[in-house]
Amino acid sequence: MHLSVGNDESALPESTGPTGKRSARKRACSVWSGGKAVKPYLSLPLRPCCGIRPTLDTWPGLAHNSPHPVKGEWETRRGGDAGTAGETRPQVQGESMRVAGKVAIISGAAHGMGAEEARLFAREGAKVVIADLLEDEGTRLAAEITAAGGEALFVRTDVTSEDDWRQVVQTTIARFGKLDILVNNAGLSSTSVADPMDTDGWRRIMDVNATGVFLGTKYAIPAMQRAGSGAIVNISSIMGFVGGEGGHPAYHASKGAVRIFTKATAVKYGPDGIRANSVHPGFMPPMRSSHPDPAAREEQVGLTPLRRLGQPMEVAYGVLFLASDEASFITGTELVIDGGFLAR
Ligand SMILES: NC(=O)c1ccc[n+]([C@@H]2O[C@H](COP(=O)([O-])OP(=O)(O)OC[C@H]3O[C@@H](n4cnc5c(N)ncnc54)[C@H](O)[C@@H]3O)[C@@H](O)[C@H]2O)c1
Repeated sequence: MHLSVGNDESALPESTGPTGKRSARKRACSVWSGGKAVKPYLSLPLRPCCGIRPTLDTWPGLAHNSPHPVKGEWETRRGGDAGTAGETRPQVQGESMRVAGKVAIISGAAHGMGAEEARLFAREGAKVVIADLLEDEGTRLAAEITAAGGEALFVRTDVTSEDDWRQVVQTTIARFGKLDILVNNAGLSSTSVADPMDTDGWRRIMDVNATGVFLGTKYAIPAMQRAGSGAIVNISSIMGFVGGEGGHPAYHASKGAVRIFTKATAVKYGPDGIRANSVHPGFMPPMRSSHPDPAAREEQVGLTPLRRLGQPMEVAYGVLFLASDEASFITGTELVIDGGFLAR
């Protein structure tokens, strides 16, 4: 397969898709428009049980694992990009939460998909430790989750640092008493380094994307072994399966390393009751470290059979599932969330 695009994102032209028609993404995004119900959304029937029309979270075509809304109860939720105002959605009530009582560390959770995972995990009953370099964003997110009734803590963490990992695990256990879940999500994008043969760039990307995952696992495992159980979810990428012409090849190498390291972890620590799985998002909103290329974005949408980009919450639900006890017999596997890209 030949790809001329980097995996990371830039601003996608909103008006037309590669066919010149109004793109599927545009149609899907209209569901998000300021929380206002628009056409595709309105065409869905009201739920007979609660009288509420499905939202993005509860829209069967997008996420069927979603909580059941209770009429009249609403909360404000922000989108994947921390700091932007988002839409309102029904609040969950009357259903057991999917990671209730669990303690989770999520690396790179101050921004993007990690932030969305932190919000979702907290809504589903987990105590969340946000481990990231970004102090302002991380602290704000912890405050947001706490204000919404959840439990969260920000710990400044560089995932390439053994000392930082030692400290974040110690702090988690000191504060919450245990560690059940580790989501290794922090990453640098393929376009964070301009020259594809830059050696320092190779080291930098491998250090964060691959060594960071190894270190997180290294320091989480002993706590999970003591508890006799644990779930590790490593965020790889579709680019952990295939090569591409855009960006630095270290991105592909690092994500491939994460994919196989996850299997090695699953095999080695399965007997201790520890599960490890990888998640492979497709083309998503831009990473902080990416350099936007509108032409590449258009091409990415064209390569995705669902003809739109993914949304952070669509990945967060997959991560939640693998981290939860619903996935208790699933380990060493790969969950691809890519709108069909790898099916081609
Ligand atoms: N956005 C995409 O298109 C896409 C597609 C497939 C996979 N992914 C992967 O998903 C994960 C999340 O991506 P995203 O789109 O949310 O990116 P993002 O840039 O929005 O978020 C990444 C987070 O990682 C943090 N981080 C970076 N280096 C760090 C370090 N050394 N220590 C601690 N934290 C660090 C950043 O501060 C940021 O908060 C990444 O692993 C990425 O490679 C992204």
